[in-house]
Amino acid sequence: MKSICGLVVLFFVMLPHAAAYDPLDPTGNITIKWDVVSWTADGYVASVTMSNFQMYRSIVSPGWTLGWQWAKKEVIWSMVGAQTTEQGDCSKFKGNVPHCCLRKPVVVDLLPGVPYNQQFSNCCKAGVVSAWGQDPSSSVSAFQVSVGVAGTSNKTVKLPMNFTLLGPGLGYTCGPAKVVPSTVYLTADHRRKTQALMTWNVTCTYSQFLAAKNPKCCVSFSSFYNQSITPCPKCACGCQNKNNCVVSDSKQAHKKGINTPRKDNVPLLQCTHHMCPIRVHWHVKLNYKDYWRVKIAVTNFNYRMNYTQWTLVAQHPNLNAITQVFSFDYKPLVPYEAISEFLRNHSSL
Ligand SMILES: *[C@@H]1O[C@H](CO)[C@@H](O)[C@H](O)[C@H]1NC(C)=O
Ligand SMILES: *[C@@H]1O[C@H](CO)[C@@H](O)[C@H](O)[C@H]1NC(C)=O
Ligand SMILES: *[C@@H]1O[C@H](CO)[C@@H](O)[C@H](O)[C@H]1NC(C)=O
Ligand SMILES: *[C@@H]1O[C@H](CO)[C@@H](O)[C@H](O)[C@H]1NC(C)=O
Ligand SMILES: *[C@@H]1O[C@H](CO)[C@@H](O)[C@H](O)[C@H]1NC(C)=O
Ligand SMILES: *[C@@H]1O[C@H](CO)[C@@H](O)[C@H](O)[C@H]1NC(C)=O
Ligand SMILES: *[C@@H]1O[C@H](CO)[C@@H](O)[C@H](O)[C@H]1NC(C)=O
Repeated sequence: MKSICGLVVLFFVMLPHAAAYDPLDPTGNITIKWDVVSWTADGYVASVTMSNFQMYRSIVSPGWTLGWQWAKKEVIWSMVGAQTTEQGDCSKFKGNVPHCCLRKPVVVDLLPGVPYNQQFSNCCKAGVVSAWGQDPSSSVSAFQVSVGVAGTSNKTVKLPMNFTLLGPGLGYTCGPAKVVPSTVYLTADHRRKTQALMTWNVTCTYSQFLAAKNPKCCVSFSSFYNQSITPCPKCACGCQNKNNCVVSDSKQAHKKGINTPRKDNVPLLQCTHHMCPIRVHWHVKLNYKDYWRVKIAVTNFNYRMNYTQWTLVAQHPNLNAITQVFSFDYKPLVPYEAISEFLRNHSSL
């Protein structure tokens, strides 16, 4: 008897939150690749590519912020397709002044529509990068950087260290840069291969615990056979934002600029008893012997967030036998066998 009227939803995730090791996306990571494309008189030019190899976690507005620490006294002469947020103290340079002299530069993407000469392939998307599982073609962001006061050969160049990635807000941890086999490029006519002079990779992984100690969504439940709705638990996402929440339809809720996202991703929530940015409501519409049907409604209570390309990840024992999905694109993430067994024993109602 496989039909289940009760359900257990162990794991509901709305972008961009999940666990450090995510069983639904075990190899998920963001890889930042530096390809040295030429040596210069005092350094090198590198093209930097950020690939989001995650199944369902995209980098949403206001976009990524990438930082690192130079190993020596490197400076950034110029950048194409991105910029540092601060120039720092370049007072010791006469004549040409570098783009950035900070020991720890902080880089952000440019906005769409910048002049053509400031663009680079896959740049200028305001730091928004899709998840690979959602849209591989827009899962890459890239820029070019010209580094000075640096090594000028693969023996003398020192790799940048201590990479940090806000995607946006906390959550990502980046490993050390590692020299990897040089990237090979195929010319447009596919008749000749060229290669980077040197390549290094940095891999960043996401941890829900780093991102926030409270959940970001809650699940409420109702069904055709019962009038009462089981709401999200009180303070399901922690109530520490209770003091500066916004009463819906109040004057404040319609104030100009209230929808502007912040780089640190701090939400501005509508006042609710659960204080969650996202509520997922699960309504059982039908329950026959052979199948059941639910309607899922996702509600956003964060005024600063505008989810246009969202992904909802749900784990449920019966999803391995899903037959029809309306209004959603549906994609199974991993084979469900083990998880199904486990859940079935824990279902209630
Ligand atoms: C990053 O993700 C890619 C694509 O899934 C995978 O091939 C690669 O091994 C991952 N890297 C690490 C360090 O996990
Ligand atoms: C380096 O990163 C690129 C993605 O930009 C990936 O294709 C390649 O496999 C990575 N190399 C290693 C050795 O991880
Ligand atoms: C550096 O370049 C030399 C040839 O110029 C090559 O043999 C060596 O493998 C390169 N090393 C790295 C780390 O790329
Ligand atoms: C920066 O990286 C270096 C070498 O990878 C490491 O020794 C140092 O502890 C790091 N510093 C910080 C503040 O993380
Ligand atoms: C309807 O739901 C309420 C609250 O969850 C519960 O107390 C009640 O027993 C349910 N009634 C039926 C007929 O299932
Ligand atoms: C949400 O984002 C979409 C696409 O980026 C945009 O067209 C829309 O105006 C935005 N809405 C608000 C309220 O910011
Ligand atoms: C789940 O329950 C079935 C019987 O209902 C039992 O055979 C199985 O061992 C249980 N699995 C777990 C992981 O408890």
